[in-house]
Amino acid sequence: MSLNTGAVATPADYFKMPAEYQELVMHQLRQHVEGELIGASDYLEIFYPLAPDVFEKKVCCQRALEEIDHFMLGAAVLADIGFDATYMLGQTISDRKYYKTEGVTVVDTWLKRGMFSFIGEAVVLSILEEMAASSYVRIAEMTRQVIIDEHVHVAHGRRIVESCIREHGAVAVQPEFEIAWAMSLDLFGKSDSVRSDKYVEWGLRTYTNSDARRRFIERMAPQLEAMGLHIPEAGKLRKFL
Ligand SMILES: [Fe+2]
Ligand SMILES: [Fe+2]
Repeated sequence: MSLNTGAVATPADYFKMPAEYQELVMHQLRQHVEGELIGASDYLEIFYPLAPDVFEKKVCCQRALEEIDHFMLGAAVLADIGFDATYMLGQTISDRKYYKTEGVTVVDTWLKRGMFSFIGEAVVLSILEEMAASSYVRIAEMTRQVIIDEHVHVAHGRRIVESCIREHGAVAVQPEFEIAWAMSLDLFGKSDSVRSDKYVEWGLRTYTNSDARRRFIERMAPQLEAMGLHIPEAGKLRKFL
């Protein structure tokens, strides 16, 4: 079964859809908005203290503001279908259950902070690009501003990584890259995920987890190689495939 984009235009249309569709939209959006709040916490609580100068501290504040904006955009879509995400504002990073990654808690250097944005937020961006073609139009509309902002987040991460490479050389940066790379690839989720197949069936995602991950690797590899970094062998340091 497959839906054409635009099939589910409004909350009223959403409530006419089968329970499975409704549950998938709910789950996807809850995970998305929780991820945005995690992003805000990362920038304020973890990256801000590491920021080496006033410019980078300001960037962290700006990014946190944008991640909160993204939360608000997603929370509005959820509110229209009867889910109040406000309680998430009172949660700490460890309370959060939809978006599990330790990729953030291990960030304790400025290079890791750069890798987080350059590669981790690039994964988020590629998932958002799929959501931009969502069969639920409210989701597709929501992603527009988010995608614009996330391009900037990724580009800033890339600048940080490039400046570390200029200063210390690609060989020195490679080990940190391999850790960030493995964690970021894990963000796509398990390859045998039933939910991922259902998202695609209902037009809520374009690619299954494994296809999305493979496409990401193909997209990133040339630019990483051009920076002097080498894609590790498949599966290295990965938690799950
Ligand atoms: Fe975001
Ligand atoms: Fe971001």
